[in-house]
Amino acid sequence: MSSLSNKRILLGITGGIAAYKSAELTRLFVKAGAEVRVAMTEAATEFITALTMQALSGNRVQLDLLDPEAEAAMGHIELARWADLVLIAPATADFLAKMAHAQADDILSTLVLAASVPIAVAPAMNQAMWADAGTQANLEILRQRKYHVFGPADGDQACGDVGPGRMMEPAQLLESCADMFESGLLAGQKIVITGGPTREALDPVRYISNHSSGKMAYALATEAVAAGASVVLISGPVNLQTPAGVTRIDVVTAQEMLDATLANVIDADVFIGVAAVVDYRPQQVATDKIKKSSDTMQLKLVKNPDIITAVADLENRPLVVGFAAETSNITENGREKLLKKKLDLLFANNAADTFNSDSICVTAISTDTETELPAGNKHVVARNMLQLIADRLVKNEKT
Ligand code: C5P
Repeated sequence: MSSLSNKRILLGITGGIAAYKSAELTRLFVKAGAEVRVAMTEAATEFITALTMQALSGNRVQLDLLDPEAEAAMGHIELARWADLVLIAPATADFLAKMAHAQADDILSTLVLAASVPIAVAPAMNQAMWADAGTQANLEILRQRKYHVFGPADGDQACGDVGPGRMMEPAQLLESCADMFESGLLAGQKIVITGGPTREALDPVRYISNHSSGKMAYALATEAVAAGASVVLISGPVNLQTPAGVTRIDVVTAQEMLDATLANVIDADVFIGVAAVVDYRPQQVATDKIKKSSDTMQLKLVKNPDIITAVADLENRPLVVGFAAETSNITENGREKLLKKKLDLLFANNAADTFNSDSICVTAISTDTETELPAGNKHVVARNMLQLIADRLVKNEKT
């Protein structure tokens, strides 16, 4: 279920008896690693309390369209922008009718109109209401507008009837949502990623290193697996969990990172160098701890191998993608690196904004293009990066 990890699910609950299942659904989303925010119609609160949903999602529940407190922090527009997916579960016949006619008179219907991400509904109603020609006509409109319709299931109903109209079970809804993130964009592709810092020892207790949390590389690895790729992540020392489905190789020095890269990149389709590799290492590593004696000391450093250049120089090279964390003239310096290291694509960013942060703002640079990607959470940005990489793979195949 790795495709739901770090996804932002906006769960809308409308007023039907199946609303009690939304609690279990939220629990399953959170367990799968998703972040959940809940918005409820007034009628929904008659069936399940906002407090229950707040406790399970870990976030304040949005109930009112005009909520002064919410508007200051995350109003309906911000909430719509925040989400990767909007799921209305349960969706009553009344709410489906509202959606079909683009009404926006409460928090949830307004969110639906404001959202530009995929929207799914899980209808739940009495079987006769489901069969009604008006409901079916509304459904047809929603399908034409590319809303996803999950269910309903067939069976016993709370009102005593039997037939179609039951909300899909939470576990099935979870699967359907996970499927939406499994884009298959990079199906069958092997991607090798370097991430995190390297460390170069001075003596048994000291080392030279770079600032790097590894978060960008790990987000790319997670999203590449969700897009169907097989991923090898060659990681310097970081404090992060291995993403599900990723083969992780731990290294410490630049030389170890180079060796692991060259051993794994032979049959790769894409190499992404995200690692903050130490450019120079001490010429000599002292066997004993260096003692404090004189007021100054000199270190002799020698150049480390440039891993990404080594990959770019291979005869059968994969698509080579680099990063450049710059402190000034970000795009100019990025472009210079792209050309010098013979990269296919480079993502340049401001070093000061990035360290240890969960969000990032990058400019994608190739020899003939320059595009600023929308700033945001590293996982969302990673998906945009992978889209550009997939576009490039298709383009290369055609030429
Ligand atoms: O450190 P620099 O700004 O040159 O990094 C640019 C790109 O080169 C990054 O993608 C980084 O991972 C890669 N690099 C490398 N080996 C090095 C230095 C940098 O692969 N020794």
